[in-house]
Amino acid sequence: MRIRRATPADHADLARLRVIMLEYITGRELPPEYLQEMDRYFREWDGEDPLCLVAEEDGRILGSVAASFSRIFPGPRNPSGRKAELHNLAVYEEYRRRGVGRALLAAILGECRAREVGRVSLYASDMGRPLYASFGFSEEAITCPEMRLYHKDLAELDL
Ligand SMILES: CC(C)(COP(=O)(O)OP(=O)(O)OC[C@H]1O[C@@H](n2cnc3c(N)ncnc32)[C@H](O)[C@@H]1OP(=O)(O)O)[C@@H](O)C(=O)NCCC(=O)NCCS
Repeated sequence: MRIRRATPADHADLARLRVIMLEYITGRELPPEYLQEMDRYFREWDGEDPLCLVAEEDGRILGSVAASFSRIFPGPRNPSGRKAELHNLAVYEEYRRRGVGRALLAAILGECRAREVGRVSLYASDMGRPLYASFGFSEEAITCPEMRLYHKDLAELDL
């Protein structure tokens, strides 16, 4: 097995693996249009941002992981102010429990370290939590709720 950077040519697997991850997290089946939308997204993606890695063996993709990088304000625990968010860690069911997820996570954390990231965050599924904990991730008590404004509401705001 080897871990490599994904390219837009991997669009079909990247889209399927994202859907697998979302279906696992939400506990419900996503409509087929979502898979098509993701497939289109990865065909048109620049291959750089977000950074996606895949695990591959004998020409078959086994799993993937992604990271998006940004800069926020530096602080005592994050002196560089560089932040990474991890997404889409998923391994096809038939290849699980043989270290593929661990290898993907190690590789993306290596990328974070090379970019001097001072804070890595993610949303963990029940299945992913033990793996993340084994790398030292811990749950952070958020002292105030995250608030979001989505596209449609932003577009319709009377500014
Ligand atoms: C979470 C997920 C990515 C883990 O992938 P994986 O390839 O199975 O992960 P690993 O094989 O590295 O580790 C998983 C377990 O297998 C064990 N394992 C690793 N190599 C093994 C081997 N050769 N033989 C037996 N077990 C092994 C690990 O110790 C670990 O055990 P634990 O869960 O009891 O701690 C995968 O289960 C998945 O895709 N789940 C659905 C989507 C999801 O929840 N993604 C996370 C989103 S936050």
